[in-house]
Order: sequence, then C-alpha cells, then structure tokens
Amino acid sequence: MANDSLTITDNRTGKTYDVPITDETIRAMDLRQIKVNDGDFGLMTYDPGFTNTASTRSAITYIDGNNGILRYRGYPIEQLAENSSFLEVSYLLLNGELPSHQELESWVHGITHHTILHENIRKLMDGFRYDAHPMGVFVSTVAALSTFYVDAKRIRDADCRKHQIERLLAKTPTIAAFAYRHMMGLPYVYPDNELSYAGNLLNMMFRTTDKFGPDPVLEKALDVLFILHADHEQNCSTNAMRSVGSSESDPYSSMAAAAAALYGPLHGGANEMVLRMLREIEDIKNIPAYIERVKQREVRLMGFGHRVYKNYDPRAKVIKQIAYEVFEVTGKNPVIDIALELERIALEDEFFIERKLYPNVDFYSGIIYEAMQFPVAMFPVLFAIGRTPGWLAQWQELLEDDEQRIARPRQIYTGSGERDYVEMRKR
Ligand code: CMC
Repeated sequence: MANDSLTITDNRTGKTYDVPITDETIRAMDLRQIKVNDGDFGLMTYDPGFTNTASTRSAITYIDGNNGILRYRGYPIEQLAENSSFLEVSYLLLNGELPSHQELESWVHGITHHTILHENIRKLMDGFRYDAHPMGVFVSTVAALSTFYVDAKRIRDADCRKHQIERLLAKTPTIAAFAYRHMMGLPYVYPDNELSYAGNLLNMMFRTTDKFGPDPVLEKALDVLFILHADHEQNCSTNAMRSVGSSESDPYSSMAAAAAALYGPLHGGANEMVLRMLREIEDIKNIPAYIERVKQREVRLMGFGHRVYKNYDPRAKVIKQIAYEVFEVTGKNPVIDIALELERIALEDEFFIERKLYPNVDFYSGIIYEAMQFPVAMFPVLFAIGRTPGWLAQWQELLEDDEQRIARPRQIYTGSGERDYVEMRKR
C-alpha cells in the first residue's frame, strides 16, 4: 500500500522524513538518518527490557497475548497437548512440519540412542557439593558438554548441527536425573532405551528397585507439560540463546546461557517460587492478607502476570486440567485448594483486573510436579528440558537468517565527561 509509511517531523530541525512500515514495524536503523547536523550520530530508540522491539523475524511460535492464543508452527497448543507427543512437537518446532510416520520413528530412534552421558561427565557431576542446586548443576553440565563434542563448533554445517540438536534433546533428561540423584545421594540410574522420553526420565529419577515402572498417567502428564513449555518465542532465555548464539558460540555454550537465564525467579524459577509462596500462605484464611501484601508491593503474586499475555495463559488452562488426572494417581496436592482460591480472589480484585494479571504457565505446573514427587529445586530443570527444542529451533533459525548479526545493543551514556586521572595521594 502506498501509505505504508510513517512521516516523522524532527522539531529540532523542522525536517520531515518518510520511514517505511513493514509488518506494522519500522526499522530502527531508518531513524539513524534523523540528525541535527552531519556530525550527529543519528536518532536511536531507547527500550530497556525490549518491551516494544522485535529482534527477529520468526516462523516458529505465534502468540496473541490479548486473546490468550499460542501456536507452534501454526498448530494450536491445545491440539498439540491433546494429540501429539513431546518428541513429535520437538520435530515440528525444529523442522517446521509434523513428521511422517517414518520420519518420527527415525527421529525418536536417533534421540533415544544418544541418551547416555560420557562417564567423565558423570564424574564431573560427582564433583558438585552434596546439596548442589540441580539447576546450577544442569547449567554447568550443559556448558561442559561443549568440551566433549568439539565438532559442535561447526555451526554452519547443517548436518553437524542436527547431530548436536539430537544430542542435546537426548542428554538433557539424563543430566537432570543425575543432578537430582546427586542431590539426594542416590546412585545414578542409566537411561533405558525401551522407555518413552518422559518414562525414561521418571525411571532415571525415581527407580530404587528393579520393579519400578513409570505410571502411564504420570508419564503422559509429564510429556504434556514438556509440550506446553517447548517454545514461547522471544522470551528472556530464548533471547539469551540467540544473543550468545549470534557470536557463533557452539550450541552447548549457548544453551547453558539460555538455561542460566531461565533459572531466575521471574522466568523459569517462578514455578519454584509459586510453591514456596503457597506454602508460606499455608491456609485459605491467610489469602486476603497475602493479597494485601501484594497490593502494598511487599511481594509479587508468583505465577501471575506475563509480559505478553494480558489474558489467561492458554498453557495454564491445559495444566489445570491435567492436575486432576495426576491427582487421581498421586492423591490431591493440598496446596491446589489454596491456589484455586488465590486465583478466584485475585481475578475478582481491581488491582489484578486493571493490570490484566492472570495465572501463567507456572502457577499450576509446580503443583503437579510436587504431586509427582519432584522436589521444588527440580522444577526449573524440568522447564529447561521442555524448553530445549524451542531454544534449539530458535538458534537454528538465527543461523539460517541472513539478516541476523552479532547481538549488540546501543546505550545512552550517562556517566562522567572526560576527566584527568587523579593520583592516589590527591584523592
Ligand atoms: N504480582 C503483583 N503485581 C504484578 C505482578 C505480580 N506477579 N506482575 C506484574 N505486576 C504489576 C507490576 O507491579 C506493575 O504494576 P504498576 O504498573 O502499578 O507498577 C504491572 O503489574 C506491570 O508489571 P511489570 O513488572 O511491568 O510487567 P513485566 O511485563 O515487566 O513483567 C513478569 C512480567 C512475568 C516478570 C511479571 O508479571 C512477574 O514478575 N510475575 C511473577 C513472576 C512469574 O510468575 N514469572 C513467570 C512468567 S511465565 C513463565 C515464563 O515464560 O517465564
């Protein structure tokens, strides 16, 4: 359309500029021509936290935050959660299309046969303190994988990339389970190729006798939780993956950075914080007082609010449903009653309505994990396993995108002007 442009008048100079609008976006670099004089650097945008800046074009995940819509490669999350499997969704995210029967078989086989860790990685994990937080162990071990697979540096080689992607998808559950067993002081259980992806994780974590067989309901629930976490476009950890990947680091180093970003309580650490919050509230009768503390800004209501969703997080809806299927097997987690009442009260409260704060994916996921006997410290690790295909798909897309360059934002310098060094005796 002829009018797809923005006319900007610089009131400092009176000059007018026409800037093209494509996909409802202007290019930040088009502002650089706006100068007061020839020596001027040109206009920049200032956007801490990237609240209104698109850093990439992406064909992977679509979110409509106002209407609570999430789709991977066009497929609604609800349909994938109901009909697909985590490994099939991983294939979809990475390859753009659902696999044929044969493609899926070969994909699952490839991942299943890379689950074992080099014994030196196990020994490295042994070196952590007896009570090491499993997320710290996970981040460090993923980074350490780069020293075992030096071929991973060949990031421009698509076949080599595929190999590393398979390795990462295959080994993250093994690392997660070993991190857990280390924390518990239990002997490691090695992967069992006869089991499903989620079933194998449950086996490696919880097996103590020869009789352990993962419960199919819990196995399915865990698989669905992984699907729900598999990608979420340009979130904090994905941005870390892309940012580090843009300097052409190997995928293990980039993914360690992504996992480190996920660890924070405002991102993947939130599910851990939700459980701690529900325990602190302890009883339904204490909820109004807690809500008051939130409104006084003493605490945040963990598991509520989202940068993109200004509506109910569609993943939270699916998770809420799974919770009851899991409770049929495990017995009810009593904190669910506190969570439901907290949600009811919050959703009727003007403070939350005004700010469009709704439950997000983390509000209910921790309650299910806890019912399944995962300790709270493992929650972010489970999130990381689920997010692995998303990070890798975004990393691959970055490398195939000719427009991408090393991530390097600008700044507005607010420090001192030039000044002369002052000798110590004169300070
Ligand atoms: N409890 C109380 N108030 C909140 C909350 C909350 N959980 N979240 C946002 N607000 C308020 C905030 O105080 C602000 O109010 P005001 O305008 O009066 O100052 C307003 O809502 C906007 O908040 P914001 O911090 O500017 O929003 P953001 O987009 O920068 O932050 C968030 C998004 C997810 C970090 C934030 O909502 C939060 O801290 N939530 C709790 C942590 C959490 O559950 N994180 C998991 C996110 S979902 C999983 C994932 O993808 O990582």
